[in-house]
Amino acid sequence: MLVSAKEMLTKAKAGKYAVGQFNINNLEWAKSILLTAQELNSPVILGVSEGAGKYMCGYTTVVGMVKGMIKELGITVPVAIHLDHGSYEHALKCIEAGFSSVMFDGSHYPIDENIAKTKELVKIANEKGISVEAEVGAIGGEEDGVVGNGEVADVEECKMIAGLGVDMLAAGIGNIHGKYPENWAGLRFDVLEEIGKATSPMPLVLHGGTGIPDDMIKKAISLGVSKINVNTECQLSFAAATRKYIEAEKDLQGKGFDPRKLLAPGCEAIKATVKEKMELFGSVGKAE
Ligand code: 13P
Repeated sequence: MLVSAKEMLTKAKAGKYAVGQFNINNLEWAKSILLTAQELNSPVILGVSEGAGKYMCGYTTVVGMVKGMIKELGITVPVAIHLDHGSYEHALKCIEAGFSSVMFDGSHYPIDENIAKTKELVKIANEKGISVEAEVGAIGGEEDGVVGNGEVADVEECKMIAGLGVDMLAAGIGNIHGKYPENWAGLRFDVLEEIGKATSPMPLVLHGGTGIPDDMIKKAISLGVSKINVNTECQLSFAAATRKYIEAEKDLQGKGFDPRKLLAPGCEAIKATVKEKMELFGSVGKAE
Protein backbone atom coordinates (compact mmCIF):
# COMPACT_ATOMS: atom_id res chain seq x y z
CA MET A 1 0.00 0.00 0.00
CA LEU A 2 1.61 3.26 -1.15
CA VAL A 3 1.08 5.95 1.48
CA SER A 4 2.67 9.17 2.68
CA ALA A 5 5.08 8.87 5.60
CA LYS A 6 2.97 11.11 7.85
CA GLU A 7 0.73 8.58 9.54
CA MET A 8 3.35 5.86 9.95
CA LEU A 9 5.71 8.33 11.63
CA THR A 10 3.06 9.83 13.89
CA LYS A 11 2.31 6.30 15.07
CA ALA A 12 6.01 5.52 15.47
CA LYS A 13 6.56 8.61 17.56
CA ALA A 14 3.62 7.77 19.81
CA GLY A 15 4.67 4.12 20.07
CA LYS A 16 8.36 4.93 20.71
CA TYR A 17 9.80 3.00 17.79
CA ALA A 18 11.29 4.09 14.45
CA VAL A 19 10.46 3.31 10.85
CA GLY A 20 13.47 2.49 8.66
CA GLN A 21 14.18 4.35 5.46
CA PHE A 22 16.18 2.02 3.24
CA ASN A 23 17.64 3.55 0.09
CA ILE A 24 17.06 1.72 -3.18
CA ASN A 25 19.30 1.44 -6.23
CA ASN A 26 17.52 -0.98 -8.52
CA LEU A 27 14.88 -3.68 -8.76
CA GLU A 28 16.75 -6.12 -6.51
CA TRP A 29 17.01 -3.55 -3.73
CA ALA A 30 13.35 -2.52 -3.89
CA LYS A 31 12.12 -6.12 -4.07
CA SER A 32 14.30 -7.33 -1.17
CA ILE A 33 13.24 -4.45 1.08
CA LEU A 34 9.53 -4.74 0.26
CA LEU A 35 9.48 -8.51 0.81
CA THR A 36 11.19 -8.13 4.18
CA ALA A 37 8.79 -5.43 5.31
CA GLN A 38 5.85 -7.62 4.32
CA GLU A 39 7.31 -10.70 6.03
CA LEU A 40 7.86 -8.74 9.26
CA ASN A 41 4.60 -6.80 9.00
CA SER A 42 6.50 -3.54 9.27
CA PRO A 43 5.90 -0.13 7.68
CA VAL A 44 8.80 0.92 5.45
CA ILE A 45 10.15 3.94 3.59
CA LEU A 46 12.02 3.45 0.32
CA GLY A 47 14.60 6.23 -0.01
CA VAL A 48 15.58 7.48 -3.46
CA SER A 49 18.50 9.90 -3.78
CA GLU A 50 18.70 12.16 -6.82
CA GLY A 51 21.62 10.08 -8.10
CA ALA A 52 19.79 6.79 -7.60
CA GLY A 53 16.72 8.27 -9.30
CA LYS A 54 18.81 9.16 -12.33
CA TYR A 55 20.44 5.71 -12.30
CA MET A 56 17.01 4.03 -12.27
CA CYS A 57 15.97 6.02 -15.38
CA GLY A 58 14.07 8.79 -13.63
CA TYR A 59 11.42 9.21 -10.96
CA THR A 60 8.48 7.98 -13.05
CA THR A 61 10.34 4.70 -13.64
CA VAL A 62 10.87 4.36 -9.87
CA VAL A 63 7.19 4.99 -9.13
CA GLY A 64 6.11 2.55 -11.85
CA MET A 65 8.45 -0.13 -10.56
CA VAL A 66 7.50 0.21 -6.91
CA LYS A 67 3.76 0.42 -7.63
CA GLY A 68 4.06 -2.66 -9.82
CA MET A 69 5.86 -4.56 -7.09
CA ILE A 70 3.33 -3.58 -4.45
CA LYS A 71 0.60 -5.03 -6.67
CA GLU A 72 2.39 -8.11 -7.99
CA LEU A 73 4.02 -9.11 -4.68
CA GLY A 74 0.85 -8.44 -2.68
CA ILE A 75 2.50 -5.88 -0.39
CA THR A 76 -0.12 -4.72 2.12
CA VAL A 77 2.12 -2.99 4.70
CA PRO A 78 2.40 0.83 4.47
CA VAL A 79 5.13 1.81 1.97
CA ALA A 80 6.33 5.36 1.24
CA ILE A 81 8.47 6.32 -1.74
CA HIS A 82 10.58 9.17 -0.46
CA LEU A 83 13.03 11.53 -2.16
CA ASP A 84 16.23 11.60 -0.08
CA HIS A 85 18.16 14.89 0.22
CA GLY A 86 16.30 16.54 -2.62
CA SER A 87 16.79 19.98 -4.08
CA TYR A 88 13.71 22.18 -4.45
CA GLU A 89 13.49 21.38 -8.19
CA HIS A 90 13.80 17.64 -7.70
CA ALA A 91 11.22 17.66 -4.91
CA LEU A 92 8.79 19.19 -7.41
CA LYS A 93 9.72 16.55 -10.01
CA CYS A 94 9.07 13.75 -7.51
CA ILE A 95 5.72 15.21 -6.47
CA GLU A 96 4.82 15.30 -10.16
CA ALA A 97 6.04 11.73 -10.72
CA GLY A 98 3.91 10.26 -7.92
CA PHE A 99 6.27 9.99 -4.93
CA SER A 100 4.34 9.83 -1.67
CA SER A 101 6.97 11.71 0.34
CA VAL A 102 9.85 14.12 -0.31
CA MET A 103 12.79 15.50 1.60
CA PHE A 104 13.82 19.03 0.84
CA ASP A 105 17.38 19.46 2.02
CA GLY A 106 17.77 23.20 2.41
CA SER A 107 20.40 22.81 5.13
CA HIS A 108 23.10 24.44 2.97
CA TYR A 109 21.00 27.59 2.43
CA PRO A 110 20.93 30.52 4.85
CA ILE A 111 18.07 29.82 7.29
CA ASP A 112 15.73 32.42 5.70
CA GLU A 113 16.01 30.76 2.30
CA ASN A 114 15.64 27.28 3.82
CA ILE A 115 12.43 28.52 5.50
CA ALA A 116 11.03 30.18 2.35
CA LYS A 117 11.63 27.15 0.12
CA THR A 118 10.42 24.64 2.72
CA LYS A 119 7.21 26.66 3.13
CA GLU A 120 6.52 26.66 -0.60
CA LEU A 121 7.05 22.91 -0.86
CA VAL A 122 4.86 22.17 2.14
CA LYS A 123 2.02 24.07 0.48
CA ILE A 124 2.34 22.15 -2.80
CA ALA A 125 2.88 18.74 -1.15
CA ASN A 126 0.11 19.15 1.43
CA GLU A 127 -2.49 19.69 -1.25
CA LYS A 128 -1.61 16.29 -2.67
CA GLY A 129 -1.29 14.45 0.65
CA ILE A 130 2.46 14.06 0.23
CA SER A 131 4.66 14.22 3.33
CA VAL A 132 7.67 16.54 3.61
CA GLU A 133 10.94 16.14 5.48
CA ALA A 134 13.06 19.22 6.14
CA GLU A 135 16.63 19.43 7.33
CA VAL A 136 18.53 21.73 9.64
CA GLY A 137 22.29 21.36 10.11
CA ALA A 138 23.97 19.44 7.30
CA ILE A 139 24.68 15.75 7.85
CA GLY A 140 28.37 15.09 7.41
CA GLY A 141 30.07 12.56 5.16
CA GLU A 142 29.63 11.91 1.49
CA GLU A 143 26.47 10.96 -0.37
CA ASP A 144 26.13 10.99 -4.14
CA GLY A 145 29.30 13.01 -4.42
CA VAL A 146 27.99 15.72 -2.10
CA VAL A 147 30.33 16.12 0.83
CA GLY A 148 28.89 17.79 3.91
CA ASN A 149 30.73 18.77 7.04
CA GLY A 150 29.07 17.25 10.10
CA GLU A 151 27.10 19.95 11.86
CA VAL A 152 25.13 20.17 15.02
CA ALA A 153 21.78 21.80 14.36
CA ASP A 154 20.75 25.02 16.04
CA VAL A 155 17.75 24.38 18.30
CA GLU A 156 16.02 27.68 17.48
CA GLU A 157 16.35 27.00 13.74
CA CYS A 158 14.87 23.52 14.26
CA LYS A 159 11.92 25.09 16.04
CA MET A 160 11.36 27.54 13.18
CA ILE A 161 11.48 24.87 10.47
CA ALA A 162 9.35 22.44 12.47
CA GLY A 163 6.67 25.11 12.69
CA LEU A 164 6.26 25.34 8.92
CA GLY A 165 3.95 22.33 8.60
CA VAL A 166 6.58 19.74 7.68
CA ASP A 167 5.87 16.15 8.73
CA MET A 168 9.37 15.17 9.91
CA LEU A 169 12.59 16.95 10.71
CA ALA A 170 16.17 15.84 10.15
CA ALA A 171 18.60 17.60 12.45
CA GLY A 172 22.35 17.14 12.47
CA ILE A 173 23.54 15.79 15.83
CA GLY A 174 27.04 14.67 14.89
CA ASN A 175 25.79 11.88 12.57
CA ILE A 176 27.41 11.32 9.19
CA HIS A 177 26.67 9.31 6.06
CA GLY A 178 28.76 6.25 5.32
CA LYS A 179 31.12 4.49 7.72
CA TYR A 180 31.98 6.31 10.94
CA PRO A 181 35.65 7.12 11.53
CA GLU A 182 37.49 5.40 14.40
CA ASN A 183 37.64 8.64 16.37
CA TRP A 184 33.95 9.55 15.96
CA ALA A 185 32.67 11.38 19.04
CA GLY A 186 29.19 9.79 18.95
CA LEU A 187 25.74 11.35 18.78
CA ARG A 188 25.02 14.59 20.64
CA PHE A 189 22.17 13.36 22.82
CA ASP A 190 22.16 16.64 24.77
CA VAL A 191 21.29 18.50 21.56
CA LEU A 192 18.81 15.82 20.44
CA GLU A 193 16.98 16.15 23.75
CA GLU A 194 16.73 19.94 23.38
CA ILE A 195 15.55 19.66 19.77
CA GLY A 196 12.99 17.04 20.80
CA LYS A 197 11.58 19.34 23.49
CA ALA A 198 11.55 22.39 21.22
CA THR A 199 9.83 20.63 18.31
CA SER A 200 7.51 18.15 20.06
CA PRO A 201 5.51 16.25 18.77
CA MET A 202 7.43 16.42 15.48
CA PRO A 203 8.89 13.02 14.44
CA LEU A 204 12.69 13.44 14.17
CA VAL A 205 14.85 11.78 11.53
CA LEU A 206 18.27 10.25 12.10
CA HIS A 207 20.38 10.09 8.95
CA GLY A 208 23.55 8.06 8.62
CA GLY A 209 22.11 4.95 10.29
CA THR A 210 25.00 2.75 9.11
CA GLY A 211 27.44 1.95 11.88
CA ILE A 212 25.67 3.68 14.77
CA PRO A 213 25.92 1.32 17.76
CA ASP A 214 22.64 -0.34 18.82
CA ASP A 215 22.54 1.33 22.23
CA MET A 216 22.83 4.79 20.62
CA ILE A 217 20.02 3.93 18.19
CA LYS A 218 17.78 2.92 21.09
CA LYS A 219 18.59 6.05 23.03
CA ALA A 220 17.92 8.23 19.97
CA ILE A 221 14.50 6.57 19.57
CA SER A 222 13.73 7.20 23.25
CA LEU A 223 14.47 10.91 22.63
CA GLY A 224 12.04 11.30 19.72
CA VAL A 225 13.72 9.82 16.63
CA SER A 226 10.98 8.09 14.60
CA LYS A 227 12.69 7.57 11.23
CA ILE A 228 16.17 6.18 10.71
CA ASN A 229 17.91 6.20 7.32
CA VAL A 230 20.08 3.28 6.28
CA ASN A 231 21.89 3.13 2.97
CA THR A 232 25.57 2.11 3.10
CA GLU A 233 24.95 -0.95 5.29
CA CYS A 234 22.78 -2.63 2.63
CA GLN A 235 25.40 -1.82 0.00
CA LEU A 236 28.15 -3.36 2.13
CA SER A 237 26.22 -6.55 2.85
CA PHE A 238 25.17 -6.91 -0.81
CA ALA A 239 28.77 -6.44 -1.97
CA ALA A 240 30.19 -8.89 0.59
CA ALA A 241 27.72 -11.65 -0.34
CA THR A 242 28.32 -11.11 -4.06
CA ARG A 243 32.09 -11.17 -3.53
CA LYS A 244 31.76 -14.46 -1.66
CA TYR A 245 29.76 -15.99 -4.54
CA ILE A 246 32.32 -14.92 -7.15
CA GLU A 247 35.32 -15.89 -5.03
CA ALA A 248 33.82 -19.35 -4.56
CA GLU A 249 33.66 -19.42 -8.39
CA LYS A 250 29.97 -20.25 -8.29
CA ASP A 251 29.47 -18.15 -11.42
CA LEU A 252 31.64 -20.68 -13.26
CA GLN A 253 29.56 -23.66 -12.19
CA GLY A 254 26.56 -24.72 -14.28
CA LYS A 255 24.33 -21.71 -14.93
CA GLY A 256 25.81 -19.77 -12.02
CA PHE A 257 26.40 -16.84 -14.35
CA ASP A 258 22.62 -16.29 -14.69
CA PRO A 259 22.02 -12.86 -13.08
CA ARG A 260 19.08 -14.26 -11.18
CA LYS A 261 21.48 -16.69 -9.49
CA LEU A 262 24.45 -14.35 -9.29
CA LEU A 263 22.50 -11.59 -7.55
CA ALA A 264 20.53 -13.90 -5.25
CA PRO A 265 23.06 -14.05 -2.35
CA GLY A 266 23.31 -10.23 -2.40
CA CYS A 267 19.52 -9.95 -2.22
CA GLU A 268 19.41 -12.35 0.72
CA ALA A 269 22.08 -10.23 2.42
CA ILE A 270 20.01 -7.05 1.93
CA LYS A 271 17.00 -8.86 3.42
CA ALA A 272 19.03 -9.93 6.46
CA THR A 273 20.31 -6.37 7.02
CA VAL A 274 16.83 -4.87 6.69
CA LYS A 275 15.41 -7.48 9.09
CA GLU A 276 18.11 -6.76 11.66
CA LYS A 277 17.40 -3.02 11.46
CA MET A 278 13.61 -3.39 11.65
CA GLU A 279 14.02 -5.54 14.77
CA LEU A 280 16.39 -2.99 16.31
CA PHE A 281 14.14 -0.03 15.43
CA GLY A 282 11.09 -1.80 16.89
CA SER A 283 8.91 -1.53 13.76
CA VAL A 284 8.23 -5.28 13.43
CA GLY A 285 4.51 -6.02 13.63
CA LYS A 286 3.57 -2.33 13.53
CA ALA A 287 1.88 -2.31 10.11
CA GLU A 288 -1.88 -2.24 10.04
P1 13P B 1 24.11 5.71 5.61
O1 13P B 1 24.56 5.49 4.21
O2 13P B 1 25.23 6.13 6.49
O3 13P B 1 23.38 4.52 6.15
O4 13P B 1 23.12 6.95 5.61
C1 13P B 1 21.90 6.87 4.90
C2 13P B 1 21.17 8.17 4.89
O5 13P B 1 21.19 8.92 5.84
C3 13P B 1 20.38 8.50 3.70
O6 13P B 1 19.87 9.79 3.75
